[in-house]
Order: sequence, then structure tokens, then C-alpha cells
Amino acid sequence: MRLEGVESTLAGTTVSEAVIETRQAGSIEVEVHGHRSEACRELAGAIAERVRQRAAEGRVYVLGLPTGSTPVPLYAELVRLHREEGLSFANVVTFNLDEYYGLSPENPQSYHAFMRKHLFDHVDIPREQTHIPDGTVARDQADQHCRDYEAAIRDAGGIDLMLLGIGHNGHIGFNEPGALEASRTRLVRLDEVTRHMAATAFGDHDHVPEEAITVGVATILEAREIVLMAWGSLKAKAVARAVRPPVEAAVPATYLQRHDAVKFLLNKGSATWMDPS
Ligand code: PGA
Repeated sequence: MRLEGVESTLAGTTVSEAVIETRQAGSIEVEVHGHRSEACRELAGAIAERVRQRAAEGRVYVLGLPTGSTPVPLYAELVRLHREEGLSFANVVTFNLDEYYGLSPENPQSYHAFMRKHLFDHVDIPREQTHIPDGTVARDQADQHCRDYEAAIRDAGGIDLMLLGIGHNGHIGFNEPGALEASRTRLVRLDEVTRHMAATAFGDHDHVPEEAITVGVATILEAREIVLMAWGSLKAKAVARAVRPPVEAAVPATYLQRHDAVKFLLNKGSATWMDPS
């Protein structure tokens, strides 16, 4: 799956003292930190190194980005690196994983708003280099919009690093249980577990959108490197399931076992269900 000309993996970055444990779970490298902030500091540092390296070569660095509570401390650290250590995002291109269908970019619950609030408004990334699926696209235009999104990823040279969270039901992006390995960017129905988890953010369950546009499993697996972040004991079961065979559509995160450059970045809480091997 790895493309030619790719540098060493993020997995090869110097392991800091804050790391409690590293281990290999099949094809997946697992790194457990004492605290999510330490894990995010290390990941942000590795990203900064790649971005600067590419800038020196006159090339872009292409990131796949998640939303939700998981990446918030990572984005905060990237913003800090921009403000305090001069990290420029001028050569960064981003593709977000998903957007709720029916929400406009101005809607405060939209992932467009989330990205502005947590990252884009605070760094020097040119807005035209950021991409998020359009939740307002007409239903009969959705397929074309999704094909255009895939084409934009290809035109950018493919995703260098795909960052992911994981749902309680094992979803990645909004690839819900049942999603196929060959799936591409598309309009999907949200799983009830996902809608339940989002209920607080939307005031109540009935206000949570029923659909979303998400990149596909195949889109995710084409990234050159993947880092999945998970914090807290509520994610422990999903994480444990994701790293173990069999690979199955019922737990879409298990598809990550097919990739040869995947790292799971955990804290103590999310690692509690992992086998002590
Ligand atoms: P969370 O969501 O970061 O808000 O826990 C992650 C996900 O559902 O993928």
C-alpha cells in the first residue's frame, strides 16, 4: 500500500520519556502515553518536522483531518507551534474527513465551523488549501461533489498523513459499521450510536443530522501514513477491537490492519482493554 518515495514513518520519530509503552499489535504500532497532551505534543512536533522538511523542498504536505473532541489538543499544540515557534502552514494542504449533511459552513455545529475555531483561523494556511465536504450540496449533486473531492485529493498528490479519531462503534470518519473496504467519498446515513454520542452537542438527539458526507475507507487506506488518536476509557473497547483480527465491516477501524504504516496513539485510559502481551 505504501507509495514510493515516502520518507520514514512517523512511527520512526524519537520516542519521548512521556511514552509509557510501545508495542506492535499485528501490523499496527501502538504507543501509549501518560496523558493525551503529551501524545499530542509529540505528534504535533513530528508533523511540524514534516511540514518544514517539505517547505525546504518547495513541496506541499497533505494532511487528512478529523473533528470531534479527540483532535482538539493536537490542534491547540499546532496553533502554539505556529504562534510561538514560527511554524508556517503556507505549504500545508488539508482534506477533512467528513461533514454533516444539511449543515451550512456557517452553522456553529458544522465541521467547517469547528475547523475555523480550532485551527484554520489561528494559522497561516491559505483558505483555498483547505477542503471539507460541502454539507449543503443538493442531493442530486452529491455523487458528483464526492467524486470531485476524491479528484482534489489526487490532484494534491494524495494524503501524506491521515489523522483519525475512532467512534465508540469503531467508525473512522463517518464510515459506520457495515462500510465496505472499497468505499469512497459518499453520502451516508449515520449510525444511531454516532447520533446518540452527538446528542449533547446538538441539544438533543432529534437535532442531530441523520446523514453526512464522509471520505471512504479506501480513501483513508490510500494515505501514506495513518495516525489514529484515542483518549479515555470510553474508547478502550473500540481500540482493542480495532487492532485484533478479523478485519470486518462491523468494525470499520479494523480495516486499518491492512495498512503498513499505521500508528495508534493512546493514553492510559484508552489502552486499558489491550492485551498485556
Ligand atoms: P470524538 O469522536 O473525537 O468526539 O470522540 C471521534 C469519532 O467519532 O471519530
